Amino acid sequence: MTQHATLTIDGKTFQLPVITGSEGERAIDIRALRRETGLITFDPGFGSTGSCASAITFMDGERGILRYRGIPIEQLAEKSTFVETAYLLITGKLPNREELTRTSVMLNDFSLLHEDLKFFYQNYPSKAHPMGILSAMVNTMRSFYPELIDLEEEISKTFLRLISKVRTMAAMAYKISKGHKTVYPRPNYSYGANFLHMMFDNPVIPYEMDYDMVQALNVFWILHADHEQNCSTAAVRVVGSGQVNVYAAISAGISALWGPLHGGANQAVIQMLEQIQNEGLTIAQAIARAKKKDDPFKLMGFGHRVYKTYDPRAKIMKKMCDLVLKKQRLNSNGQGDTLLDIAMELENAALQDSYFQEKNLYPNVDFYSGIVLRAMGIPTNMFTVMFAIGRLPGWLAQWQEDSQDPMRKISRPRQIYTGETLTDYIPIDERE
Ligand code: CMC
Repeated sequence: MTQHATLTIDGKTFQLPVITGSEGERAIDIRALRRETGLITFDPGFGSTGSCASAITFMDGERGILRYRGIPIEQLAEKSTFVETAYLLITGKLPNREELTRTSVMLNDFSLLHEDLKFFYQNYPSKAHPMGILSAMVNTMRSFYPELIDLEEEISKTFLRLISKVRTMAAMAYKISKGHKTVYPRPNYSYGANFLHMMFDNPVIPYEMDYDMVQALNVFWILHADHEQNCSTAAVRVVGSGQVNVYAAISAGISALWGPLHGGANQAVIQMLEQIQNEGLTIAQAIARAKKKDDPFKLMGFGHRVYKTYDPRAKIMKKMCDLVLKKQRLNSNGQGDTLLDIAMELENAALQDSYFQEKNLYPNVDFYSGIVLRAMGIPTNMFTVMFAIGRLPGWLAQWQEDSQDPMRKISRPRQIYTGETLTDYIPIDERE
């Protein structure tokens, strides 16, 4: 039997249906609210608003749970690969051996870029941020590959083309920013190995593939692959709802991800740790500044809209720091990353501080991810690009789900107007 919530306004009572998700989450269905009552709801930042029904990712912020298509993130991080996880997110099931091989082959087939795309890169100022470049380049892809192919197939070739080429574009942006020759992908390498090859191989010092780093990269991307209706995914769905092409919707997602409160936090965390180090701040001073309302200094990599406990991705990322830093120490004659020590001290102090405890502020995925990426040799301004490569399958899965949703409507919120009431136009000579 359908449950209802009762709303009484101006002496009249309205019944609003309550809908329940497969994990027992409940929502009041207000679709008929304005039609029946003339009222709208008010929820800036959408903290209490469900924008869609989705079968892709489940999060429980109170219990620190994250699952893709029902599978816990911990199991995927331990046992899966990024390509397999991408397949899972987009199609809803794990691939069998043949499906996985076919997907990998297609990712390799699509890995080259149209040579003319290179000219676009060359005209960017050398200090341009790679996220701005990536967003523009993904939008530009539409001009090179205008037809959307096999959208009705289990996994569209357009999606695989995007997943493959975004990785090539990211590595190419890095090479061009360094003024180095771009490196072409190799068909015998896996998705992650090919990325490292295109980033770090050069004609003077050939890159020796490090399979522990490939594994770390896979885990990094799996942890970022989807996160239900976050800022950038919501942007993909909102932009997509106007029936724009998939490249434009993904490009909007990349732009949204760039912000320091969202994916840009991984870069901001490293900048914060460097600031603490360079300005000689003590941990207590940093914590005190983060708590001050009038100080712009925040504890980047801490806090989350949904998680009110330790982010399960941050737990896995913290463990990965050990693995990659061990490697890095071996490669750098025993020197570790002093920023990790600062990060760990900062975490311990914040977790014991009543301000952070009362507000349920815990480390999120970005707190340790920058340290992992640094140890891999990824430059700081590429960190958010790494997040974008990882989040792409999630954006595609969500775009697909949205575009196939029979309940889909163009996203068009309303507002409460607080400006001037009716005001006459004043001719310029009569104005004060
Ligand atoms: N340092 C200090 N105070 C904080 C922090 C922080 N990192 N995060 C939240 N607060 C305080 C905030 O000032 C507010 O205090 P008050 O109630 O006194 O006004 C309270 O905690 C609630 O925070 P909020 O900003 O209202 O919460 P939100 O859900 O709107 O924002 C957030 C969530 C992630 C934007 C925020 O916690 C933040 O800015 N964190 C730092 C940036 C960051 O690490 N972002 C990455 C998020 S995870 C990656 C991703 O998926 O995007």
